[in-house]
Amino acid sequence: MIPNQWYVILESREIKKNQLKGFTRFGEKIIAWRDNNGTLGVFRDRCPHRGIQLSKGKIKDNRLQCPFHGFEYDTSGQCTLIPANGKASQPPAYIRANAYPVREAHGFVYVWYTPDPAAAKIPSNESLPEVPWFDDLDDSLVASSFTDLWKAHYSRAIENQLDVVHVPFIHHTTIGRGIGPVVNGPYTKVSNNSISFWPLNEEDRGQKPLRPDQIEEAPKKSTYITFIFPNLWQNHIMDSMRIIVAFVPIDDNHTLFYLRTFQKMVKLPLLRDLYFLVTKLFNIIVLGQDRRVVETHQPQATSLKMDEHLIAGDHPIILYRKMRENLKDGKKMQDK
Ligand code: FES
Ligand SMILES: [Fe+2]
Repeated sequence: MIPNQWYVILESREIKKNQLKGFTRFGEKIIAWRDNNGTLGVFRDRCPHRGIQLSKGKIKDNRLQCPFHGFEYDTSGQCTLIPANGKASQPPAYIRANAYPVREAHGFVYVWYTPDPAAAKIPSNESLPEVPWFDDLDDSLVASSFTDLWKAHYSRAIENQLDVVHVPFIHHTTIGRGIGPVVNGPYTKVSNNSISFWPLNEEDRGQKPLRPDQIEEAPKKSTYITFIFPNLWQNHIMDSMRIIVAFVPIDDNHTLFYLRTFQKMVKLPLLRDLYFLVTKLFNIIVLGQDRRVVETHQPQATSLKMDEHLIAGDHPIILYRKMRENLKDGKKMQDK
């Protein structure tokens, strides 16, 4: 995991008012719950009193109540009542559930991931940067979403979506039909926290592929892919049609895809539902084609130096590995 980043972990609609849900993210047991004002709390799923899972508790009087000795917590994680000490006693400030900084935006729940379990060392929510999102995705696009669970490390799941070399092979019956195997470039653009690239595959007519520095027109093409660290991806198929994926790390061997299809061409409600149903079925088939091979990767997690022989067409994957390493070390990439 890259520490000190905003990760998408859920969709907001998954946690309703007065509801709690336990789940696993980053290999850790986590609880998310909403009070009746709609405020969301996301904690490591462990009561600071004696360490049992808070997700076995309940919401009582707008507080999360631990089932074991009834300690109560607000959405910031602060303990507000220790029943054994009586209502007249104020719980000490240091009795806090281990809360993640949390934000809700674009229909997603983001948490600020830091491996340091000491809540006191986690920065205040206000001092943190904006959550990552796509500048070129406006609100006029309508979305439909579904999830897909892969038995794969998140780095493999992400790299698969940065792989322009595989498309004519794995997807020869779907999105790869008619796509040539020769990979020009790909032309890439990098910012501090994102990679964009333009797939420019073509048929093999005996030509050598173009190097990235021989390509100038790529950014004028409407189809491009953007990955924003740590876990968001967009296929900008055209202005009126996009696919985004949030790759949510469950543990070292599982990644949950939150896939959304955006479009603004089909406006009639019934036709729109039909459009989303057909694209969902199509995307399930395409993801299944990927998953079948990605789940067989050895080793599961990728790293900068590993026993693979990457080629020029794998450039976005190489960039991803380098940037991930730099971000882990707290360095930034130069704009290019
Ligand atoms: S373990 Fe939660 S209140 Fe004691
Ligand atoms: Fe694919």
